[in-house]
Amino acid sequence: MHMADSYNIASARAHSNIAFIKYWGNRDPLLRLPANSSLSMNLLALHTTTTVRWSADLAADSLTINGEAANVAALRRVQAHLDMLRRRLGTKLRAQVDSRNNFPMGAGIASSASAFAALTMAAVAALHGQLAERELTTLARLGSGSAARSIPGGFVEWQAANAHADSYAETIAPADHWQLADVIAIVSHQHKRVGSTAGHASAHSSLFQSARVETAAARLQEVKQALYQRDFAWLARVVEADSNLMHAVMMTSAPPLFYWQPLTLAVMEAVRNWREADGLRVCYTLDAGPNVHCICAAADAQAVAERLADLSPDIDMLRSGVGGGAVVLSASE
Ligand code: PMV
Repeated sequence: MHMADSYNIASARAHSNIAFIKYWGNRDPLLRLPANSSLSMNLLALHTTTTVRWSADLAADSLTINGEAANVAALRRVQAHLDMLRRRLGTKLRAQVDSRNNFPMGAGIASSASAFAALTMAAVAALHGQLAERELTTLARLGSGSAARSIPGGFVEWQAANAHADSYAETIAPADHWQLADVIAIVSHQHKRVGSTAGHASAHSSLFQSARVETAAARLQEVKQALYQRDFAWLARVVEADSNLMHAVMMTSAPPLFYWQPLTLAVMEAVRNWREADGLRVCYTLDAGPNVHCICAAADAQAVAERLADLSPDIDMLRSGVGGGAVVLSASE
């Protein structure tokens, strides 16, 4: 018998993702049903590897992150996810969870998407569950909305819907469809003061949220067409507009959320100039933090990285191509 079979243990790996059309605000916070559909690209170079061991010998669930016992808040959130998975998989077993990111935790790069995607995949595989990809995306979504988009590969759309089963994510183009890259300009290593869960909850308090949500589907269709046609100028225009709209909502929420720092704005302005004046295929997008994701044609990634380095000695960088979907790893990996 295979070792893994007797121990109900499995490992899975999932990539982080960067949204071109943002998820911000829920129509149902408990089910994490988003206000609008979103679209993202998986990041090959940034991933989480998670091992789950279900066992009757465990008195309680446990969680280590990068080899160290996790804090209570992280453990509670993972326990809630495990409770949901126990109900779905019909087990009362407790789980030992070990999660490792290959990217620096303190870099202000979100790990919840790759973390809940890898956790969901590993937890199901360790109980020999065979669930369709679509359902796996809905289960991952319950842990962190953007995690739904880290299960399928390449370029992924996550559907807004009113029912749990209908709010799933799926690949709209495979990773090799277009050689894009993300050069992440890390302008601050500070942990974000207001995380995305609290941010989603206050999104509706902005006068601009309804306008953003009402027009999101049209932008998503434009991004999809730009992707299919590999039209960078079109992609850049809509991706930057969508990021700006989300940050306008953040800044006008109660309490207001200002994630940008002076260097953030300097990078955004430089990126726009490099594209409009110098013809580099690059555009910016930002998540709930000050770091700037410079989405570019892979052929222009080196030039973008060099220009970022010249812009300020205070900018650190992470670089990634387009990643595939979440996978269960074999025992040797
Ligand atoms: O999955 P969450 O709750 O961490 O939300 C992600 C929110 C943004 O990163 C700001 C936007 C997005 O679509 O990824």
